[in-house]
Amino acid sequence: MIELAHVSKRFGNETAVDDMSLHVPKGKFCALVGTSGCGKSTTLRMINRLIEHSEGDIILDGQAIKEYDPVKLRRRIGYVIQHTGLFPHWSVVRNIGLVPRLLKWPAAEVQARVEELMNLLGLSVGEFGHKYPHQLSGGQAQRVGVARALAADPDILLMDEPFGALDPITREKLQDELARLQAKMHKTVVFVTHDMDEALKLADHLVVMRAGRIVQQGSPLALLQHPVDPFVESLLGGLERGLKQASLTRVKDHMTSMGQMLPAQSRIPADFSLRQALSMMLRDHCDRLTVVDQHDVPIGELSLRRIIKEAQLDKGSA
Ligand SMILES: Nc1ncnc2c1ncn2[C@@H]1O[C@H](COP(=O)(O)OP(=O)(O)OP(=O)(O)O)[C@@H](O)[C@H]1O
Ligand SMILES: [Mg+2]
Repeated sequence: MIELAHVSKRFGNETAVDDMSLHVPKGKFCALVGTSGCGKSTTLRMINRLIEHSEGDIILDGQAIKEYDPVKLRRRIGYVIQHTGLFPHWSVVRNIGLVPRLLKWPAAEVQARVEELMNLLGLSVGEFGHKYPHQLSGGQAQRVGVARALAADPDILLMDEPFGALDPITREKLQDELARLQAKMHKTVVFVTHDMDEALKLADHLVVMRAGRIVQQGSPLALLQHPVDPFVESLLGGLERGLKQASLTRVKDHMTSMGQMLPAQSRIPADFSLRQALSMMLRDHCDRLTVVDQHDVPIGELSLRRIIKEAQLDKGSA
């Protein structure tokens, strides 16, 4: 769906992106992480031609982006930036409807789409529809930014630190919403973030950049298991790496059939992560948990030994 082949971008003498090759299959979520100034935003802007690349090829749906009309190209790619880029003198409804109006959708269809998206993102139309961006909280404005990017139902979504300015709780909530939306909509997403936990949580494909180059790319689990160098390892959290790996692994994938249950053994839902299981063991001073389904019915058991063994197995098999 999105293919970058040996792409470089120079600003004068400075090389902002250097020989970058990347393939994002249709419907996959790709996260770009790396230190400030490493070329993440430049990469996004080259994909929607806000910036023209200097060398290499960028191909969307099998066609070089140089062959697309830049305006038409941008209308089929949703773009979300950190400070939302909302028009300050336009109401929420008008902001969200921007691209469908540009595409000359009938007014009633624009209105219906705007309302659909506001509902999807948990913004009441009656309460927020007529408000202006300065009357919104940071998290509400971000939702409007995401709704606007989705308005014309683009197949591709570029998101540049969309949740960067938010407090951790709002941020986590929006991450969960984005994960839920993505599970339904299967957009092809390129997402830039400074926050490795955010990237690990959302991405199918993780790309670590440094000084304009890709240092390593692969699945989050693959990078956690085998970082190529100390830079990637430190970005992935150094010693916290084991816990981050545990947060990507579900209890249900590691539980065993039920042994003898202790009367007051702590219970953990099967779709929780191994990290949450470890935390519960530490809190409750135990090394065994009862795994329950969504109706709180016991369906298996998880032991500390098993978690540690599985971690070893993963290491051996990767
Ligand atoms: N329009 C421009 N003119 C000249 N240099 C630029 C321009 N845009 C970006 N650069 C340079 O290109 C490099 C990469 O910038 P970019 O914005 O892509 O970094 P980034 O990874 O998004 O950083 P951050 O995490 O701080 O947002 C930087 O050194 C920056 O100074
Ligand atoms: Mg940036």
